[in-house]
Amino acid sequence: MIYLDNSASTIPDEEVLQTFTRANKTYYANPASLHLAGNKAEQLLESARKQIATLTGDSESSVIFTSGGTEANNLAIIGYANSLKHRGNHIITTEIEHDSVRNACIHLKKEGFEIEFLSVNEAGEVSPDELRQKIRKDTILVSIMHVNNEIGAIQPIEACSKVIREHSRALFHSDCVQSLGKLALPYPEWVDSVTLSAHKIHGLKGTGCLLTKKFKEPEAISFGGGQERGLRSGTANAPGAAAFAKAIRIIIEGDNFSDYKRWNNRLREVVGTEKLVRICSPLEGAPHILSVAFKGITGEVAVNYFQEHGIMVSTSSACSSKTNQVSHVIQAIHVPDDFRKGVIRISFGRMNTDEEIETLAQVIKEFMKIIKKGMKQHDME
Ligand SMILES: Cc1ncc(COP(=O)(O)O)c(C=O)c1O
Repeated sequence: MIYLDNSASTIPDEEVLQTFTRANKTYYANPASLHLAGNKAEQLLESARKQIATLTGDSESSVIFTSGGTEANNLAIIGYANSLKHRGNHIITTEIEHDSVRNACIHLKKEGFEIEFLSVNEAGEVSPDELRQKIRKDTILVSIMHVNNEIGAIQPIEACSKVIREHSRALFHSDCVQSLGKLALPYPEWVDSVTLSAHKIHGLKGTGCLLTKKFKEPEAISFGGGQERGLRSGTANAPGAAAFAKAIRIIIEGDNFSDYKRWNNRLREVVGTEKLVRICSPLEGAPHILSVAFKGITGEVAVNYFQEHGIMVSTSSACSSKTNQVSHVIQAIHVPDDFRKGVIRISFGRMNTDEEIETLAQVIKEFMKIIKKGMKQHDME
């Protein structure tokens, strides 16, 4: 099986699995327990916290462990909105955020917050000028993702940060789930908080974090035993945190960026100037994601065809793949109507090889021939 759906989830790294298994055998106690076993688990948790803060650029950061990216984004969007509402109720985000930001914002709208969405150009990028026009003195929060999960567009975070700092006191959050290990994080220099998730970087599902600057934490949005300094109650997952720190260390020490770039170029070359195919990912986007649309067919048909040839890709995003609707990202970048439903996303990971990409290239060629034939027959009927 050739697995090319790494933006949905990755194959766990063997070393990460070993860390998790070893830690679970030794540090199984509840880190909040007072006895020695509890203390040991707590030490493991705190050591993972310190490692993650250091690896991501600021050893003083607050690392709030969560069950993944969705929970961390919810904590940031809803938690900051609530903690900053004494200053205003205006929030700015983009048209192409992951649903965990988008739907949290839609929830806040129902609660009385004013939400504005930045549009994107055909390359999926927001404009700092539009941000400048929209930002106000009462803007309390701006949330702009670093790398888009469907098309790989990279946002101009530095330029946006300068606009925000010049015109407001708003907090700047960035969802960095898809950029961790692929690009340098905009944190701590340009943003105040970022969301990270382990299972996108060959770590384990069920672990992620919100990383914030010291003293810039949001308000809690869930309640219980007060773990994570009251910001995320629930028994802490010390082995999961240790495995997450390991996954971050491995990915930061060297993901195969140049391979991704080469593979991305190879597939672009195969598709070439074929009129039946449209590449939705910008040329300057993150190279591990390539979104391609086929004319006049559905993404589901394409996914099934690749699957018959042993290749796993997804429609525009794994989240929207079962709803059969055109994703909000594909709509936002104005993919023409006859291509909109035929989008697939190919996403590379560390375990992929040149041979696998070449196999995919040949299968794409065959698939394009089949679509062409189908269209000619259709024209003759
Ligand atoms: C950009 C982005 N943000 C957030 C998430 C949610 O992360 P998780 O699956 O860890 O909840 C995803 C996962 O698809 C994502 O791609």
